[in-house]
Amino acid sequence: MKKPYYITTPIYYSSGKFHIGHCYTTIICDAIARFKRMDGYDVFYLTGTDEHGQKVQQKAEAKGVTPKKFVDELYDQIIELWKLLDISYDKFIRTTDDYHEATVQKVYEKLLANGDIYKSSYEGWYCTPCESFFTESQLHDGKCPDCGREVKLAKEESYFFRLSKYQDKLIKFYEENPDFISPKARMNEMINNFIKPGLKDLCVSRTTFDWGVKLPFDPKHVAYVWVDALTNYITALGYLQEDHANFDKFWPADLHMVGKEIVRFHTIIWPALLMALDLPLPKKVYGHGWLLFDNDKMSKSKGNIVDPFFLAERYGVDAIRYFLLREIPFGSDGNYTNEALLTRTNTDLVNDLGNLVSRTTAMVTQYFGGTIPAHNEFTELDKEIVALCEGTLAKVREDIENLSAPDALANIFKIVQRANKYIDETMPWALNKNGDKERLATVMYVLCECIRFASTMLLPFIPKTAKTIFGKIGVEVPSNFDGITAFGGIAEGTVVTKGENLFNRIDIAKELKILEELHAKQVAEAQAKNAPKQEEKPQDELIDITDFAKIKLCTAKVLSCEKVAKSDKLLCFQLQVGDEVRQVVSGIAQHYTPEYMVGKTVVLVKNLKPAKIRGVESNGMILCAADDKSVIFVTPEKDMDSGKEVR
Ligand code: ME8
Repeated sequence: MKKPYYITTPIYYSSGKFHIGHCYTTIICDAIARFKRMDGYDVFYLTGTDEHGQKVQQKAEAKGVTPKKFVDELYDQIIELWKLLDISYDKFIRTTDDYHEATVQKVYEKLLANGDIYKSSYEGWYCTPCESFFTESQLHDGKCPDCGREVKLAKEESYFFRLSKYQDKLIKFYEENPDFISPKARMNEMINNFIKPGLKDLCVSRTTFDWGVKLPFDPKHVAYVWVDALTNYITALGYLQEDHANFDKFWPADLHMVGKEIVRFHTIIWPALLMALDLPLPKKVYGHGWLLFDNDKMSKSKGNIVDPFFLAERYGVDAIRYFLLREIPFGSDGNYTNEALLTRTNTDLVNDLGNLVSRTTAMVTQYFGGTIPAHNEFTELDKEIVALCEGTLAKVREDIENLSAPDALANIFKIVQRANKYIDETMPWALNKNGDKERLATVMYVLCECIRFASTMLLPFIPKTAKTIFGKIGVEVPSNFDGITAFGGIAEGTVVTKGENLFNRIDIAKELKILEELHAKQVAEAQAKNAPKQEEKPQDELIDITDFAKIKLCTAKVLSCEKVAKSDKLLCFQLQVGDEVRQVVSGIAQHYTPEYMVGKTVVLVKNLKPAKIRGVESNGMILCAADDKSVIFVTPEKDMDSGKEVR
């Protein structure tokens, strides 16, 4: 039976636009999950979304939508992102899923029954974005110790979890499991900053908002979002549910991969909750560093485009995956720049990997008609390469055990770089020229095997590209590492295809200029969007057809017309309206002469209340089109009898 391996990412806050930093945790876990699957483990890779809490409720309100609608939109966005980035999760959990909510309620009931939670009231410094209370001494310069933002004094009736009760048990657990928190420095940080000063009981319910899991025994309280969120790691497996086969098989987790800012929740609160539930603790929590943009985790960076959708579309998903896995020293922070991404792509993917594959397939095509030849006896040089290939999986396995993707990739690329050097050393073109087909065949064979070894190990990291390479060297994509224990797996006669380049070289200077311009445009658009809106023109009040039907319009013929005495604007009309003659005054004297108007057909508002204008009675109004300069009376397009309805 395969050994189970349970790996999780944090569940993502459904609170905004995702940037490339958000992809970091998920891509690393994906590479590890894929590696472990190929290495013979029965892997369960969990990711999801953290959808409750005050922050979500506030954002939804600001947007004028329900919290559920708000989280649904972000859920759609993140699913699309993970699909684009080839994330091979086995389950996606949403904290608004019914089974999760029901299980969180059961967890609270269990904690209450065990005496691990009690009711009291809480006063402390509250950070809304982190949804956490802090004591005065925990604040950093009066700000939130986790995110550095403003905190406010708040008081609430709450349920409390007896975290203090678990202080000694936690210390004992750390001592007995020195690898539980990794990297090591983070373990010291937890002990010195949080445990040694003394753990306080934790406020685990809220009454000031209601977007959360209601406590079954006191429904005006909702579950503290962190208890709700952390519990996902067991509810997703079926804990306290009818079907708990996955829980039985996969718990405790082998690895919770998290960003360094949430290590505290995963190494203090989570283990204590699990102890209270009498469950085994996870084997490891790894706190990775941040991808910094201008030395800030969150900021919109200067000149850098950090939208993963844009970057993946422009440079390819694997360029993004490769960069994040290779470039950022694992466990530490790494600065993100577009330049670093492009440089990494050019040096490793274009120059090293792309070149090796295109040169080799081109040479096999040119020298052997596209068919991989059988090799002859290996020279010392060949044997060195055979040893390198055969020894690499063990190193990469160890790197993955140490959770170091950069080292794993560096080791795999040693094969790629060595093979490129081997081409220069063996000079196949010269062998061909000299007619040394025997040696040439061996050289081609060795190169194809190098490619097969490297791309087998690259499958977990850059799956799309690795699969393309298998297509080019005519080998079926392997589902495990069995084929790379020994050199010589490629059968003689396998057909290669050169095809298109794996990656195209990027003109970095030119590309950076384009990106900068695009970024400037994006910034300008964002500013325009956020700028206070110019006063808008008042909107016309809409009427419906019954309102309009109240206005009776009809055609009328001008029988006579004269100027109104002592007015240079008014004309007095005698109009034929069917059988009737009407007197109407109209203010068009500056635009029409009385003589001109006689005999014209106009449109009359027939049911206007009679009015006296400059002492002259007017029974209706003549319709005109007007702008600043001119006034033009409206007339039917063809001649028409008077008194006909206009509608
Ligand atoms: O913390 N660089 O969710 P989240 C590297 N819901 N990693 C980054 C990053 C960056 N610039 N920005 C974000 C939460 N991340 C909680 C988790 S788990 C029970 C609840 C990482 O959406 C971050 O460190 O704020 C974290 O690991 C993940 O993205 C999700 O962060």
